[in-house]
Amino acid sequence: MMTKTQLASMGLFDAKVPRYTSYPTAPQFTPAITGDMFAKWITLIPAGSEISLYIHVPFCRRLCWFCACRTQGTQKEEPVRAYLEILKAELALLKQTLPKGVTLARLHWGGGTPTLLSADMMRDLAAEIASVAPFAPNYEFSVEIDPNEIDSTRLDALAAAGMNRASIGVQDFDDEIQQAIGRIQSFEATRSAIDMIRAHGVESLNADILFGLPHQSQARITESVQKLLALSPDRVALYGYAHVPWMAKRQQMIPSDALPTPEERLDLFETARKLFVWDGYAEIGIDHFARPEDGLTRAQKAGTLRRNFQGYTDDTSDVLVGLGASSISRFPQGYAQNAPATSAHTKKVSEGSFSTSRGHVFSAEDKLRSRIIEMIMCDFRVSSAELLAEHDIAPAALAAMLNEANTSFGNRLKTCAEGLYIPEEMRPLTRLIARAFDAYDLSKAGHSSAI
Ligand SMILES: C[S@@+](CC[C@H](N)C(=O)[O-])C[C@H]1O[C@@H](n2cnc3c(N)ncnc32)[C@H](O)[C@@H]1O
Ligand code: SF4
Repeated sequence: MMTKTQLASMGLFDAKVPRYTSYPTAPQFTPAITGDMFAKWITLIPAGSEISLYIHVPFCRRLCWFCACRTQGTQKEEPVRAYLEILKAELALLKQTLPKGVTLARLHWGGGTPTLLSADMMRDLAAEIASVAPFAPNYEFSVEIDPNEIDSTRLDALAAAGMNRASIGVQDFDDEIQQAIGRIQSFEATRSAIDMIRAHGVESLNADILFGLPHQSQARITESVQKLLALSPDRVALYGYAHVPWMAKRQQMIPSDALPTPEERLDLFETARKLFVWDGYAEIGIDHFARPEDGLTRAQKAGTLRRNFQGYTDDTSDVLVGLGASSISRFPQGYAQNAPATSAHTKKVSEGSFSTSRGHVFSAEDKLRSRIIEMIMCDFRVSSAELLAEHDIAPAALAAMLNEANTSFGNRLKTCAEGLYIPEEMRPLTRLIARAFDAYDLSKAGHSSAI
């Protein structure tokens, strides 16, 4: 086991590193990618193939202070209804451009809070999506559900539309922590939302929980994890709370002197991690846990685990189309991001164009580095055989790249003929190790702490 002093000497407690849900990371995108380029990439999707679709709903009824997501608060129906019309117009544009016979392997509604749509709006949106591309045979349709913003009528609409996975935000069950992060949600409210979701035949359930919150102690995170385990989620995302009040102004409400130190964050993560493992969950990458029979666990075993903007996934589609303000799409050719502000997105789509405002075209080197970083984040190993078979790099050049990374971590990684391996004791440093393969200007990269 590495000591905290050793981990500190390698930068774990003071480095800021991206979460590598993409490579290059979004801060590297440029305005070179336009709506025309996005439309062209859509036309290049092979007819009859399976793709994934993400729909972004950037509204919430309540604005939780801890939340760093791009979302706006509203109590009114009007802006939500207007946004739905724009989503439908964007879907109609997609329908005109998409090659024949394309089906959806994955559909995800995220936000914000997609469940603030009324049941009628949900039916309307689902019908429009189905008219653009029907579900593929083994599809997965997941929706982010705020337990405070759901009821049986809306669940009826979602279940009828084919939802088969729900993702609920928990964060922490402790009263004092909930007050400090501006998110009140009792255990009973969470349990009754989950009971209702399961009663609607939705069997797969993800839950998000956070470590590194104000006033969080090992005893408190133990209690919250135990309460969450009593609800038997299939998957858990255990994210480190990112405190970035200069970007997410609401976080200024959070008492920074009550936040745990980076060393305490590591202990909080470890405490929660052990509880999930003791309860039989498989560890998935750096921050997910899944039941043995869950798709993520099966993908990890099969070597097909992937990482995308929603975190870890067993989705292997080459194309992820993101619709709605700020959504990011991924194509074999590159990334395309829609205009981040709802107003700019609305203007573009009402003029009859996609709202793409930034993105990135992959170079051959990007593809190589992207796959290396994905292997590190998903499998804690880099397979030289796969890289040499699929990328244009000489064996000696690849070996030199892997050796250089190993040297920068004091030769504590393992290099061998198969490639590179991150031993268990080095895994808290995974994002830092991934960063060693990032060729971009890291001063522009993400702001979240390495632990
Ligand atoms: C986009 S939110 C949607 C969840 C849904 N609206 C709800 O409140 O249940 C998805 C997740 O992002 C995570 N998240 C939001 N802000 C975060 C932050 N500052 N640091 C780490 N994770 C954060 C939370 O765990 C949250 O459940
Ligand atoms: S946590 Fe969910 S409900 Fe709260 S502000 Fe963020 S997206 Fe909205």
